[in-house]
Amino acid sequence: PRLPSGLPWVGQGLEYRKDPLGFFLRYAGAGAVVRTRFVGTAIYLLNTSDAIEHVLVKNFRNYPKDAFQKRALEAVVGQGLFTSHGDVWMRRRRMMQPAFHKNLLAAHGSVAVRAANTWLESRREGEVFDAYTEMMALTLDVVAGTLFGANLSARARELGRAMEAVMLHAQFLFDTPLPLPAWVPTPGQRRFQAALRTLHAVVDDVVERRRRQGAPGDDLLGLLLEAQAGEGEPLTDAQLRDECLTLMIAGHETTAAALALSLWLLARHPEAEAALRRELATVLGGREPTVADLPSLPFCEQVVKESLRLYPPAWGMSRVAEAEDRMDGVLVPAGTVVAWSQWALHRDARHFPEPEAFRPERWADGLERRLPRFAYCPFGGGPRLCIGAGSALMVIRLVLATVLQRFHFDAAPGPAPEVLPAITLRPKGGIPLTPRKVSLG
Ligand code: HEM
Repeated sequence: PRLPSGLPWVGQGLEYRKDPLGFFLRYAGAGAVVRTRFVGTAIYLLNTSDAIEHVLVKNFRNYPKDAFQKRALEAVVGQGLFTSHGDVWMRRRRMMQPAFHKNLLAAHGSVAVRAANTWLESRREGEVFDAYTEMMALTLDVVAGTLFGANLSARARELGRAMEAVMLHAQFLFDTPLPLPAWVPTPGQRRFQAALRTLHAVVDDVVERRRRQGAPGDDLLGLLLEAQAGEGEPLTDAQLRDECLTLMIAGHETTAAALALSLWLLARHPEAEAALRRELATVLGGREPTVADLPSLPFCEQVVKESLRLYPPAWGMSRVAEAEDRMDGVLVPAGTVVAWSQWALHRDARHFPEPEAFRPERWADGLERRLPRFAYCPFGGGPRLCIGAGSALMVIRLVLATVLQRFHFDAAPGPAPEVLPAITLRPKGGIPLTPRKVSLG
């Protein structure tokens, strides 16, 4: 593996820009810590589980989120759970964690099955649909239902468009070294502000309705409303809204991409699809799945793990070293950004032979327990492990179990969908699928 050469001063920024996924893959074998530079910023690529563990777990306090991420995401969701660090982060995490308690996941499960059934009602045999667009609509229902106990389907179109516009702008802020200040009324800035106002109005409505009902409940919104009413430091209305948006945005596109690509992978791997359908028929015999069925559906779990390995919706992560540090013998000066990519880690042939092959059965016999800690990390790890990981894994399995009992999907022949490493990994140009009914039981 070659070490980065790059242009003097500019460094590897352009090389990264051209092909971010290829960039991480190219330097994956070039050492535990690979020094690169993007114009004025030193960026060290981490390629081993130990180096990532050092950042996410062992020396976690020294590594807040970096300026690239913060600039992009704070514009959208302010300084909340996703963007904060230290004590502020810890308080918020403690406040929200109970909304994802195991006991509540059964409720998340029934929301997911209901959303999948509603989605199935509008499927017509032989009528092509774009899996990514459709799964975005479905997972919007799921996040609204699980986080806020709300049904936003009447506003789905408007919300979907606003989410899209906001994420595009976040992407622009992430990619642009020196964006104009937010108060300069560029057309992009105006579109972004309008989309943000739409999102705020929707969340404010949901919050207001729940306040009027006066019954907090134990979902995320219930917890946030109680936290506001309780002792200690109350959340302001804007903070409450930002946290609701944080979780909605974090859970929406990621879960949609995972579902859309899982459907495509199954469509193109008839043996895996047949094995999954056999498992579903044996365990469920045509009835709706529930959370209690999941332990009896191991192959379904393997399918989801393998899909998240090949197409990790969170395809890369980064942090900044607050104080000077040392990692694997390499000096990491204060201010260095450290970055790694699930896309590359999940394609390491030492852990995943024939890494490009979709082989759910590789996860049988406890592969995950045998792997080094961060060899497979679709949900990140350490104290900032994705707060929605348990919920997302369950939602994806239940949606797949619901829809695959009713339909097989045909995918067009040809190469795999091209994916775009935006803030999350998303299929470029959609994933056309054609439903065909299957017999139950
Ligand atoms: C954090 C991935 C679904 C909410 C993360 C992180 C990853 C991730 C990699 C760590 C980011 C970092 O530390 O830099 C995913 C994937 C999902 C998914 C692949 C679906 C397949 C969800 C869902 C929710 C959610 C459904 C909420 C309902 C969050 C939040 C954080 C987070 C709030 C920040 C946690 C913290 O910093 O304490 N997610 N996520 N995610 N995720 Fe997820």
